[in-house]
Amino acid sequence: MGEKSGYSPIEVVPKRKRSWRSLASIAIGAITALYLSSFVFTFEDGISEPEAKKLILNALEVNLAGEWSKKYTAEPHLAGTNYGLVEWTKEKFEEYGFDATIDTYDIYVSYPNDHDLNLLDAKTNETIYKAPLKEDEIKEDSTTLGNDTVPTFLAYAANGNVTGQFIYANYGRLEDFAKLKELGVDVEGKIAIIRYGAIFRGLKVKFAQENGAIGVLLYSDPGDDHGITPANGYKQYPHGPARQESSVQRGSVQFLGGIGSAPGDPTTPGYPSKPGAERKDPHNSIGKIPALPISYREVKPILEKLNGHGVQIESKDWQGELEGFDYSTGPSKKHTLNLYNDQIYNISTLYNVYGEIQGEKRDEVIIIGNHRDAWIKGGAGDPNSGSATLLEIARALGSLKEAGYKFKRSIILQSYDGEEYGLLGSTEQGEYFADKYKRKVVAYLNLDASTTGKYLNLGASPVLNHVLREAAKEIEYPEEGVGSLYDHFVKEKGDKIKNLGSGSDYTVFLEHLGIPSADLGFGQGKGDPVYHYHSNYDSYYWISEFADKGFVFHNLAAKYLSFIIFSLSEHELINFKLEDYANDLVKYYKETIDEVPKEWFHQEVSNQDTWDKYLRHDIQDIEFIADATNNEYVPHVRYPIPEYFTPQQCQHHQEHIMFDTHHHKNVTLKHLIHRTLKDIQKLKNTTAVFDIQSSALQTSFENKESLNFWQKIRLHFQIKHQNKLLQYFERNFLYHKGLYERPWFKHIIFASGRFTGYAGQTFPGLKEAIEDGDFERFVEWLGIVSKALRRVTAQLSLV
Ligand SMILES: *[C@@H]1O[C@H](CO)[C@@H](O)[C@H](O)[C@H]1NC(C)=O
Ligand SMILES: *[C@@H]1O[C@H](CO)[C@@H](O)[C@H](O)[C@H]1NC(C)=O
Ligand SMILES: *[C@@H]1O[C@H](CO)[C@@H](O)[C@H](O)[C@H]1NC(C)=O
Ligand SMILES: *[C@@H]1O[C@H](CO)[C@@H](O)[C@H](O)[C@H]1NC(C)=O
Ligand SMILES: *[C@@H]1O[C@H](CO)[C@@H](O)[C@H](O)[C@H]1NC(C)=O
Ligand SMILES: *[C@@H]1O[C@H](CO)[C@@H](O)[C@H](O)[C@H]1NC(C)=O
Repeated sequence: MGEKSGYSPIEVVPKRKRSWRSLASIAIGAITALYLSSFVFTFEDGISEPEAKKLILNALEVNLAGEWSKKYTAEPHLAGTNYGLVEWTKEKFEEYGFDATIDTYDIYVSYPNDHDLNLLDAKTNETIYKAPLKEDEIKEDSTTLGNDTVPTFLAYAANGNVTGQFIYANYGRLEDFAKLKELGVDVEGKIAIIRYGAIFRGLKVKFAQENGAIGVLLYSDPGDDHGITPANGYKQYPHGPARQESSVQRGSVQFLGGIGSAPGDPTTPGYPSKPGAERKDPHNSIGKIPALPISYREVKPILEKLNGHGVQIESKDWQGELEGFDYSTGPSKKHTLNLYNDQIYNISTLYNVYGEIQGEKRDEVIIIGNHRDAWIKGGAGDPNSGSATLLEIARALGSLKEAGYKFKRSIILQSYDGEEYGLLGSTEQGEYFADKYKRKVVAYLNLDASTTGKYLNLGASPVLNHVLREAAKEIEYPEEGVGSLYDHFVKEKGDKIKNLGSGSDYTVFLEHLGIPSADLGFGQGKGDPVYHYHSNYDSYYWISEFADKGFVFHNLAAKYLSFIIFSLSEHELINFKLEDYANDLVKYYKETIDEVPKEWFHQEVSNQDTWDKYLRHDIQDIEFIADATNNEYVPHVRYPIPEYFTPQQCQHHQEHIMFDTHHHKNVTLKHLIHRTLKDIQKLKNTTAVFDIQSSALQTSFENKESLNFWQKIRLHFQIKHQNKLLQYFERNFLYHKGLYERPWFKHIIFASGRFTGYAGQTFPGLKEAIEDGDFERFVEWLGIVSKALRRVTAQLSLV
């Protein structure tokens, strides 16, 4: 933190200029009002909300998901390849009444070329076992046959040919490498063999590299298949639900949310990969050592050579269920491994496809996204169950449009390229359209693997919880006696909607742009067949015979999503519940404070630098609300300057606290923790009132026929104002400098874990300061959090 101390001016909302602008806005507003009064309040398309929902369900009585699944999984479609599917997707969007476009980015990617893996006798250097590095062909499953399957590889793994002793490093987490160090197992110069699971694979390679490994082998251990194993009597795919022993999980080893890294094109961090973009050294986001993925059948003869060498860690956490391997760490002096990885690195064009139906409120947009690229020829679950669902949604909403229905808000469907490599297509477009999206997008809904099982999984920004639950109540679960989809969710998941971390295309929307996002899909449950993630066996045959016979759950996903979209686009007041967000903040905050080291509480915050950091946190002003060029009346866009926005106010505030303490004792962290908690509670109280106001406005809108002309106009502007506050609520939690050592991640409430990748982290600035034992940074982040809370509370209180 090279920040200089002292009260240098921070960005404040310009105070002058305001009066002319607002007069102009009022004038424009009045004209708009006259226009709108004849439009918004008297226009009718003749289709009521229940009728519209019926039309959606009618359209989905026909289930074409299986057809789309077959189409998407018939040919390889790695990132930047298969232009045919790009055009076909665009044509489908158009067929269903969407305006469709193709958007391209030139992105640094790698394609498989050659690989080799040999177990050597260390004395003679002779190969005693050569791993085929191939998945078996299965005659029932046509996707696995032929010469056009995608080789097993790990995208962005460095090219290289290395030979050395090898060790077993469990899941390759930070704590696993720490354990090895503690036990005196030297990773330096070794090839690390790591099982999949627990954290994102790219971080396994990152940590291995940082610990001096020269190469990495990633394998799928049967111990991570939740008991559905041959050892427990289950037959392997395609004869039963257990993992096929030759199956290999391909994937990207980009560092994703790791320290110093960002998703997207590793050569253009934070800005779009349009032609001519400056290219940077990618090695903040990708590794320098070669790595290969391997099946458990093929890694077995290698790992067995470690038996009895090094340390056998008794802890259950270190033991998988690979038969014949005793889970010794190694190394063994008797054997070495030769690992060769060769990929073609180049800058390729990637293709996103967008389809839009314009709504009446063009500045309020709902985006539904799913990636199209897959690691394998199939990809029936990941991502093409989502692709099939997306087309079904297009068809259902298209049928509404065809019936003459006019949507209130714009709806945009997006089919991304390159998600698998590191959220490439979504991240680059999010960076390219950043200003526009921050201004216009109301919510983002993510599909990815929409269906690999029967159990609903929900992750979301808490403002969306209400809509997700309400829509689930309106849909029947397709199994006897279960009731609604919501009943199922309560029964199976305890009504728990998770936080978002990373690992799919919502990342840029939520964590970079502050747009409320949700991730939805039907996944595996207890006893379900093992999902062959990123393997050839994630095929049409698997999905249609094992995961979703009759594509019933694909169909359910389409119905559910369509209802969520409908609710978000058609509710006059944006259908967010802000109190749900504030309630979760209280919960996350308490969890965070529980992790604060006891001795910190009574530590004084007396150092001038620390105070400066606490007070001078410049959260980004959400200027774009006041976009004068959009030619519309924008009510109260200049929010009052919240407490201690100006240097003078900062000083005043500090003196205030200092003054207080003369009468009691010095300011300790405990005081500040308490202050921030108060700020959260105040926001909670404010949001409760705000939500009631939103509901009241919605009711007035529904009964607007009883209002006179001027009351209608007034209501119109009240709603417009309320909707702006709803739409931009979550943007308040963006911090323009971003997280510590991860500036791309701007959201101060939600981030992907820097040591886990997939798993979400709440209050990341605070939690990371605790993890790093950095007291001053913790104080600084309390300031950042408090300022955001006060600003949003001030905005909402104005209503
Ligand atoms: C085996 O290979 C290593 C280098 O990888 C070399 O140092 C060593 O001399 C070789 N041993 C034999 C017996 O060729
Ligand atoms: C793959 O198989 C097809 C049909 O059997 C054949 O036409 C094609 O030439 C083969 N391609 C390669 C690269 O071997
Ligand atoms: C990799 O290096 C080894 C010697 O260390 C050599 O025998 C082998 O041919 C190399 N492989 C390739 C594909 O270059
Ligand atoms: C990048 O490499 C792949 C694999 O060799 C190739 O198919 C593609 O044409 C290359 N793209 C460019 C732009 O060179
Ligand atoms: C308050 O802090 C000052 C400066 O750090 C110190 O000299 C003083 O003893 C502290 N007072 C109390 C009551 O802890
Ligand atoms: C929030 O509301 C509760 C109940 O009305 C009240 O007791 C509490 O003091 C309020 N908290 C703040 C920080 O305003």
